[in-house]
Amino acid sequence: MANKAVLGALGVMVFVLVGVGIGLSIYYGVDWDDGELGAVPFRDIPGIERFDCYPEAGGSQQTCEDRACVWSETDVEGAPWCYYHPNGDYGYAMISEPTTTKLGWKVRLGRKNKPQRYGMAADTIEIEVEMQTDERLHFKISDPLTSRFEVPLEVPTPEEQAPNPLYDVSYTRNPFSLQIIRISTNTAIFNTSLGGLTFEDQFLQIATYLPSSNLYGFGEHNHRRFRLDLNWKTWGIFTRDVAPVDAWNLYGHHPFYMCIEDGGNAHGVFLMNSNAMDIVLQPTPALTYRTIGGVLDFYVFTGPTPENVIQQYGEVIGRPVMVPYWSLGFQLSRWNYGSLERVKEVWSSMIEAGIPYDVQYGDIDYMDEKKDFTYDQVAYDGLPEFVDEVHAHGQKYIIILDHCIKEEEGYHAYDSGLDPNVFVLDPQGIDPIVGRVWPNESVYPDFTNPAAQGWWTTLCSDFHDVISYDALWIDMNEPSNFIRGSTAEGECPDNRWNYPPYLPNLLMEEEKIFTKTICMDSQHHTGKHYDLHSLYGHAMSEMSFVTLETLFPEKRSLVLTRSSFAGTGKYAQHWLGDNQSFWEQIWWSIVGMFEFNMFGFPYIGADICGFWYNTTEEMCWRWMQIGAFYPYSRNHNGDGMIPQHPTAFSTEMADMSRDILLHRYRMLPYLYTLFYHAHKDSSTVVRPLLNEFTSDPLTYDIDRQFLWGPAFMISPVLEEQTFIVEAYFPDARWYDYYDGTEMTEQRGKLAQLEAPMEHLNLHVRGGYVLPIQQPSNTTVYSRLNPLGLIVALDDDHGAFGDLFWDDGESRDSYENGEYSLIEFSVSEGILTMTVRVDGYTDPNSLYFADISIYGADNYVEGTDVIITTTGGESPIDGVVFDDATNVLTLSGLELDMMSEFTIKWV
Ligand code: NOJ
Repeated sequence: MANKAVLGALGVMVFVLVGVGIGLSIYYGVDWDDGELGAVPFRDIPGIERFDCYPEAGGSQQTCEDRACVWSETDVEGAPWCYYHPNGDYGYAMISEPTTTKLGWKVRLGRKNKPQRYGMAADTIEIEVEMQTDERLHFKISDPLTSRFEVPLEVPTPEEQAPNPLYDVSYTRNPFSLQIIRISTNTAIFNTSLGGLTFEDQFLQIATYLPSSNLYGFGEHNHRRFRLDLNWKTWGIFTRDVAPVDAWNLYGHHPFYMCIEDGGNAHGVFLMNSNAMDIVLQPTPALTYRTIGGVLDFYVFTGPTPENVIQQYGEVIGRPVMVPYWSLGFQLSRWNYGSLERVKEVWSSMIEAGIPYDVQYGDIDYMDEKKDFTYDQVAYDGLPEFVDEVHAHGQKYIIILDHCIKEEEGYHAYDSGLDPNVFVLDPQGIDPIVGRVWPNESVYPDFTNPAAQGWWTTLCSDFHDVISYDALWIDMNEPSNFIRGSTAEGECPDNRWNYPPYLPNLLMEEEKIFTKTICMDSQHHTGKHYDLHSLYGHAMSEMSFVTLETLFPEKRSLVLTRSSFAGTGKYAQHWLGDNQSFWEQIWWSIVGMFEFNMFGFPYIGADICGFWYNTTEEMCWRWMQIGAFYPYSRNHNGDGMIPQHPTAFSTEMADMSRDILLHRYRMLPYLYTLFYHAHKDSSTVVRPLLNEFTSDPLTYDIDRQFLWGPAFMISPVLEEQTFIVEAYFPDARWYDYYDGTEMTEQRGKLAQLEAPMEHLNLHVRGGYVLPIQQPSNTTVYSRLNPLGLIVALDDDHGAFGDLFWDDGESRDSYENGEYSLIEFSVSEGILTMTVRVDGYTDPNSLYFADISIYGADNYVEGTDVIITTTGGESPIDGVVFDDATNVLTLSGLELDMMSEFTIKWV
């Protein structure tokens, strides 16, 4: 590995810094002898080892050498021709000895004597390293002499230095570089020794070698594959209104990745920076960050499992908000039904067909002239009454709100926002900046301004008095603008915010960073749009969340946001945006769900059947199958596209949709319990196989199947006219969900599974107990039905599972202890149910009625199955054993949900 070679070539001078305080750490300083690295011939750096010194277009030997970099052509496609020489005099060097701090140490660095890139280089910078927890290291590189923008995220700061970190930190002095080592394997998980550290006002760069090529994350993009392609890819990050088609920056800003090291340990890295940036991936393997503002504020999470990494990340950015139970139901939406009459037709057809359906949406067509907080009194005459009718059916109604407020005197949302002025202002900080969105000339609420909270809440609350919506869908909040910059003087003034000296690889027209958004020099309450752009959706989510808390103080609601930043998941949920009705988008939706689960959005899904373009019945059919297992299961359609709701096609399509959604509803207690875990510790809900089988490298590339939690596997059809699915079954016992047949032949293999049109392959992993409930057509009714269990035994005939239950909607039920947690464990042929927390007793006297035990080859046919409750012991009557499948079915039970019991079959 390149890094080892470089370090090996150095005379390593180890010294020990004493007196660091509690949890004394040892720092290894490497004395870098300038000029002695000539062992690497000047023009002979192999392509894949090179680090790009001229990322923008138009480089030449001259401009390259002006940067004191090396110019040489290479055949390696994608590799730079202008690159940093490993012996170059770049970056920074330590100019003092480290001083100890409460959580670690800090040291000043001085800029080495080389030309600036884009101007205003900081001559002195400081790095502060904090051993925050045994698994988490924080380091920040900032300018100690000039204050700079920092992301205003609330992050935890421990009181004491970690006592037994899993990592060690070392550094080189000149040039300065940092190494973070996993102690147990001596793996360098972050290693900046390749150089190129740059800290200029509008160009900050840091690069690291990676310990392996198993890299996941960064967003929001349409990566197509979960494991990132390191073959010279540069991904821009900056929130942007654009349909997820290609290799561009999309709606969200998530500079977080996870890497699986050789040997199976995982670590993650979060760069807390909201400025436009590049993430450069190269096959070395290595990655480079180039951001155009802020500071280099990093968190490193050492796992060691993938789930640990994501949980540790969640501890920093905030845990996902707990969703209401009803939001796990199926949802229907489209942009432009045309009229309320049409909405009613669709709604009635769904009810008549008996298709499970919990939520109906109102997209911008419900509005009057596309203005927030109004409704079209002609085409949507009777909307308030319709929403009441929806409620009477046990369903919910969600309205869309855009970020833009029409600039129109007399329009209450505009007028009331002017005094005090709660809009984003022009660069002089005087008048609102005006862009153009759905209602034409529009102003932009400044959600970073605390004064905007009351204004927004009042508007939402007054409108709720008109239409009693249940949740908010907030859209276009990248923030989108249909013209570039603003309507004033066309475009944006020529200054360093609107025309920064370095432009990351973003989707732009004519290299203008304000493409499809407002000017970067616009003024927010807390700073320039330049720094706050990617936080717009985050701030809107937070304010909308607080608004809904005011509106529904007792009940959980939902904020569904299109734009997001790291940590937005503690306020809001997300969908994958304006996808297309193309087959490959079905596959990509799995990748998107994996990524957003890493980013702290377990509640995620794509528009089922696709948004843009017309679907076909077959595509929509297959999409309804996989979509029934998106955590966020919504069929949403674009303006002008053919209808695609489940009853829009044949009766077979409606029947299939009903059947598969009934299976979803049957599984909701298991899904809801996964959301409880996500809320509690940031566990993922949609999980790639690699999170569960990390020691099996074959799982690292699997992104055509997914798990719900640890135990339920979905292997959908992703292509047209395809009736066989290739699915990988990692080494464990697996069972067919529908009939409990064990997948003995398929175990540990890539298997071919039959997938006729009416069938979605679903499998249960041995070792788990999954709580289920008899389904109904809305969650209001399904929650009244008897419960059941799927008990899937592992090789030792053991299993474990749990059930989280509350009233499904009270705010903070977990925090207030108003819930019950029931655990199930199986060993030696005995299932034991234990009530761990009993803070909630369902008023509907729920009970377990059916238990299916998969893999019960330890049962001897004819043996009594004995149940023991507080009332005593008795044999169960309804016992059926299928000796072909080894499924033991116990039915006709009435086991009170809150009374402990055991069931013994061996
Ligand atoms: C863009 C959103 O992404 C889409 O879902 C919505 O239908 C349209 N805006 C219209 O509101």
